Amino acid sequence: MSLLRIAEVGHPILRQVARPLSLDELREERWQKFIDDLVETMHDADGAGLAAIQVYEPVRICAIEIKPNNPRYPEKVPIPLTILVNPVITPLSDRTFASYEGCLSVPNLRGIVNRHADIRVDFWDRHGAPHTRTVSGIEAVTYQHECDHLDGKLFLDRVTDTTTLTTWTNYARHHR
Ligand code: NI
Repeated sequence: MSLLRIAEVGHPILRQVARPLSLDELREERWQKFIDDLVETMHDADGAGLAAIQVYEPVRICAIEIKPNNPRYPEKVPIPLTILVNPVITPLSDRTFASYEGCLSVPNLRGIVNRHADIRVDFWDRHGAPHTRTVSGIEAVTYQHECDHLDGKLFLDRVTDTTTLTTWTNYARHHR
C-alpha cells in the first residue's frame, strides 16, 4: 500500500464532477488497490472521510470512518469503515442539522454548514454489492460532505455565515 497526495483548495481537480465506476472496473485489481491506498491515506491524515477526487482520481468512490477517539473530530458519533461507490443521497425530511465541518483539502479551517438532518444513502460497497443506509444528524453530515466532493463541491461553498470560519486552534479555544 502507499500513501497518496491530497489535493488542496484551489486545485482545479476538486471542482470536477467525478465519473461513476462500472461493476467491471470496480472489480479490477487497479481499483481494489486504489481503495486500499485511499483508506491508508485517510488513516494517516486522521480524516473522517476521504473522496477519490481529493487524491487526484475523479471517480465516484469515497471512504468514511469515524473512530471513537478521532483527534480531529472527538465530538462525532463513530461510523465503521465504509467504502461508498457511486453513492446517491436522498433527503428524507425537511429538518436541517448545523455543525462545524472541516476538510483535509481545506487545511486549518472549519465553519458551520447546514445539512439535511435525515437522509438515505444508496451505494455499492467495494465489491459492488448494493447497500442502503438511513442516517440522521451528525452521522448524516459525514455522508453529505463526502458525496459533495464527488460533485466538485467543498464545505466552504455551503458556509452561509462566513463569520463562523475559524482555524482549528481557535475552534478549540472559542467555539467548542
Ligand atoms: Ni472534505
